[in-house]
Amino acid sequence: MYKAIHQIPILDFSDHLFSDLNNLNIDEYKQLEIDPVLLKAVEKGLENGDFFQVFGTEIPIKLPSARQASLDLFSHSSQVLEEAHGHPELFRQRGYSPFGGEKAVGAEEVDLHRQFWMSGHLAESHLGAVEDRQYDVADQDPNTLSPNFGSSVRSILHEAIHVARILLRCFETLYQFEAGELIAKTMGADTVIRTLYYQSPALNTILAGEHDDINLITVLAGDMWGLEVLINDEFYPVLIRPDCVLVNLGEMLNQIHGCEHLGRIRHRVVARPGIHNPRIQFATFVHLLRDTRLLNDVRCGDWFAQRIQEITTK
Ligand SMILES: [Fe+2]
Repeated sequence: MYKAIHQIPILDFSDHLFSDLNNLNIDEYKQLEIDPVLLKAVEKGLENGDFFQVFGTEIPIKLPSARQASLDLFSHSSQVLEEAHGHPELFRQRGYSPFGGEKAVGAEEVDLHRQFWMSGHLAESHLGAVEDRQYDVADQDPNTLSPNFGSSVRSILHEAIHVARILLRCFETLYQFEAGELIAKTMGADTVIRTLYYQSPALNTILAGEHDDINLITVLAGDMWGLEVLINDEFYPVLIRPDCVLVNLGEMLNQIHGCEHLGRIRHRVVARPGIHNPRIQFATFVHLLRDTRLLNDVRCGDWFAQRIQEITTK
């Protein structure tokens, strides 16, 4: 039996999106004044949880071609993709990851019904330290397997990072950080976009087990029906407006002094009637620079490395 759909608050970012996302620097973000109406909406939304729908990006317009490019890529067999672009030695942080290659944090079972591809944040890699660029050596676009895939996902990645930074700018204002203080920690960080391909073998199959997100902020686009959030020990489906992207806060944010109070909502993905099959999703995982000091003076890079080892299974 289905529960009623859980409403996710909508934020309108259309007045805060820059036309040129290619050469953004920290000064532009510092000068960004957030509209008080948006700030209020963020504050109110946080009372209900840590998921938001964000309106105003061009990501929804980019989805049909990105979906097609992804289908082209995943039309190649798992074996071909793994041989050409599998990187178990890099904990699957770049390139191809096979069905069953990962499990959710704390989960017993691996996620058998999804394969995915990880692309890094090369556009800003010159800003990061060597440590933050450690996986970029393996970050090749698979042009021979799908000519439009790399450019499609990177275009979504650029916009998604900007969305996350506007939200961080809101948090800076709401929680008495200096302008740009949180955003600066994302400039040159190892932010990644994961292109997910889910097959749905039968209705009600768990496609991604219950979990919290590890990263700072996740920006999700694509086929989202089937996502469910845990409220008071019950899972509720969420319905995302097709002109919006979904943004949620991850565990890394809670590890920042001054943001500990930002809640986490556990979530999962289930095959439900009316779902696209295959289901294609683009998840941008926005990260902090690995040298960032988290609570208890833990280095972000050490904290994250531990988490990644916990979830990698192959
Ligand atoms: Fe998630």
